[in-house]
Amino acid sequence: MTDITFDKSRILFEKASKVIPGGVNSPVRYFQPYPFFVESANASRLFTNDGNVLIDYCLGYGSVFLGHCNQQIGSEIKSQIDKGNLFCTPTEKETLLAEICSKIIPCAEMIRIMNTGAEATMHSIRIARAFTRKTKIIKFEGGYHGAYDYVLNKAGSGAAGQEYSDGILSESASKTITVPFNDIESLKSVIDNEQNHNDIACIIIEPVMANTGLILPEKDYLNSIRNITKQNNIVLIFDEVVTGFRLALGGASEFFGIKPDLATFAKTLGNGYPISLLAGSREIMSGLAPRGSVYQASTFAGNPISVTAALKTLEILIEDRNIIYPIVARTCDKLVEALRNMVQDKKIDATINSIGSMFQIFFSDKIIRNYYSVKSSNTKFFMDMFKILLAKGVFIPPSPFETCFISTQHNEEDLEKTLDAYETALAKVKKY
Ligand SMILES: Cc1ncc(COP(=O)(O)O)c(C=O)c1O
Repeated sequence: MTDITFDKSRILFEKASKVIPGGVNSPVRYFQPYPFFVESANASRLFTNDGNVLIDYCLGYGSVFLGHCNQQIGSEIKSQIDKGNLFCTPTEKETLLAEICSKIIPCAEMIRIMNTGAEATMHSIRIARAFTRKTKIIKFEGGYHGAYDYVLNKAGSGAAGQEYSDGILSESASKTITVPFNDIESLKSVIDNEQNHNDIACIIIEPVMANTGLILPEKDYLNSIRNITKQNNIVLIFDEVVTGFRLALGGASEFFGIKPDLATFAKTLGNGYPISLLAGSREIMSGLAPRGSVYQASTFAGNPISVTAALKTLEILIEDRNIIYPIVARTCDKLVEALRNMVQDKKIDATINSIGSMFQIFFSDKIIRNYYSVKSSNTKFFMDMFKILLAKGVFIPPSPFETCFISTQHNEEDLEKTLDAYETALAKVKKY
């Protein structure tokens, strides 16, 4: 098969760059020499303005779990549009969504509906500070929780490699302590350090790191963090923006059997529509305004379009949970097993991490267990592989500091084409 090209996208990108900084509305969307432009999508496929069809393993950075353009969700949305799209006054559907989520999410006694992942994690930190009357927070190197001041220290995703963004006050950054993932002793020493002692309000963690490649928590790691936070009156926040409703219906919390104090959700919840949740114990969540004194507000929060999308997504996930989760995991396992065989046959130093419907390949002979192991992998090989895969019609996120995702719509034909593309890409990468 000849390589596909993106000539029209180049022209569209040049035009976009004149009015949009960097030509994109979120930095991870850019890659060299220019990103492709998408006209439409369906199931596991993206259709570019150049007339190319791509098998999508980015899926809105993990959002589109049920595949693009899900007809059932679409038809509910269409009928909601006819009834109105923004009321800014309570609707019955919001209560219904909160009731359903409180049954699914282990820590959720109360829920506040928001719009984006960043909003949910930002308010989880604010409420943790107010609840504990402490100021500092701990996050993990390579952990990504959104593009705002509290959490951009040593963040992952598009911010990987930066200490913290320009424009953030050092006073603000100094309240955020970063520690390496999968290293309980480092965490303990930070908590016990005299300078921090009794001033750590919360620990925010992606239970499975998905923004610095894909990194799994080692045995007992999350359990130990749960114990330490309880012992030290620190609020434990699971950022389940990626893992929520994807790793299991009840997210990583259900998957690993650990109940945090607060948890944040987005992405899969709306299958691509903008909606997020902050969930937690009644005691902590009651602090939110208007009852409590922690201010959190948004014009678009709980808008009927996003809530309708979430209700339908959850209805599908709940009804078919015994089919959906095993199937996506099987599809992922099959792909990963074939990739492992491929790298072994070609004698390529590579490590593949995977869990549930997520996977990532790293060009390294080491175990990939934290940000530094990803950073020391061969990132040039990765980008070379990315470009060849794209030319063969397979789109994975354009960075080793991201994760590849499988949807319920990826089928045998997709897998075959994908493996053919990897075969070519890995053979070429090896020669460099
Ligand atoms: C784990 C995690 N938390 C928070 C966020 C921020 O979400 P949003 O981009 O919707 O603000 C992301 C985004 O990728 C994420 O992966």
